[in-house]
Amino acid sequence: TSRFTQALTETLEAIQEIRAGNRQGYFWGRLSGRAREVRDFAVASQWRTDASNRASGLLFQFGIDVFRAAAMLTVLFSDLSIGQMLAVFSYLWFMIGPVEQLLSLQYAFYAASGALSRINELLARADEPQYPGGVDPFKGRDTVGIEINDLKFSYNDEPVLNNLNLSIAPGEKVAIVGASGGGKSTLVQLLLGLYTPQAGTIRFGGSSQQEIGLATVRDNVAVVLQHPALFNDTIRANLCMGRERSDEACWRALEIAQLAHTIRQLPAGLESVVGRSGVRLSGGQRQRLAVARMVLAEPKVVVLDEATSALDAATEYALHQALAQFLQGRTTLIIAHRLSAVKQADRVLVFDGGTIAEDGGHQQLIAEGGLYAQLYGHLQH
Ligand SMILES: Nc1ncnc2c1ncn2[C@@H]1O[C@H](COP(=O)(O)OP(=O)(O)OP(=O)(O)O)[C@@H](O)[C@H]1O
Ligand SMILES: [Mg+2]
Repeated sequence: TSRFTQALTETLEAIQEIRAGNRQGYFWGRLSGRAREVRDFAVASQWRTDASNRASGLLFQFGIDVFRAAAMLTVLFSDLSIGQMLAVFSYLWFMIGPVEQLLSLQYAFYAASGALSRINELLARADEPQYPGGVDPFKGRDTVGIEINDLKFSYNDEPVLNNLNLSIAPGEKVAIVGASGGGKSTLVQLLLGLYTPQAGTIRFGGSSQQEIGLATVRDNVAVVLQHPALFNDTIRANLCMGRERSDEACWRALEIAQLAHTIRQLPAGLESVVGRSGVRLSGGQRQRLAVARMVLAEPKVVVLDEATSALDAATEYALHQALAQFLQGRTTLIIAHRLSAVKQADRVLVFDGGTIAEDGGHQQLIAEGGLYAQLYGHLQH
């Protein structure tokens, strides 16, 4: 049961990551496997359950007998007639059963109503929209462009994205910068269809998300989320997420992510277990593992949401150098606060008030003296 519940909580905690990578099929299969183990084990140990049930029944019966003996004594020492005495016994005998049932009913009721309200909460939630899809703009192409038209989105009433328009050419690298809480990560979630916009369209290679279908989008667009989720499993399992990948491919991805050296020093190498949510790795190592996972997914479009924010300057530089080659010819969206990451892009979009406020190269935006110049103008390089 503990193996099953661990797999269940991990899957639910990492659900964004799993949906973003279109890996729900694999993780669902893993969960059912664990559930089957629980069932098989329960069947195999049924006799023990039976034995303990009998034992507890016996104990209960013993308790009742003690109570009866005590009752009998009380009756004997009072001045009841034999008839009254028998009546008391039969009343007792008839009452014990229903009282017992009432008590267990109450326990069952409270346990079930707690579970039921959570199940109802879950059932009341809307399902992810299922688009018919069918169009595959990624097929036979190295990469595709992204086009967003009049995108509007709000979580509650407060709009997060407001008539957002942007267009990214195939193979172009674009950085998105802006104040914290501005809606950059929200845009990433919308790109993958994790949320549905209230208005507007998102197109990949000229076809809208609805025409393509979310599964195809997620198979071809890989993201490194701002808070990557890791599983209490081996490095290899965390990298592959259930895909078939060779050792060489894993090591190549780790090389690009600047993590190969660290993993090689671990006694178990790729088979090292990272601990719950990756506690045995440092924050920067977790980020690099997430980058390696993205590389291994061999995507056509890449989105990096603060993917290198926890790295030291030297490691970040080395990672960007190695990644540049991998990203060559793949449309890339880099969301970052640090200038070192922003400068990897050909073009910068400045996010302000839920829309794109400035658009241009680094030098150009500095010269324009707007928000970008305020954010980065004082930095030397
Ligand atoms: N799941 C959610 N439910 C409700 N509101 C949310 C949710 N996620 C984000 N928000 C709100 O949406 C706004 C934009 O959040 P978002 O994560 O997109 O910002 P961001 O630009 O990525 O910021 P940062 O640079 O700090 O990562 C924030 O005001 C936040 O409070
Ligand atoms: Mg963010």
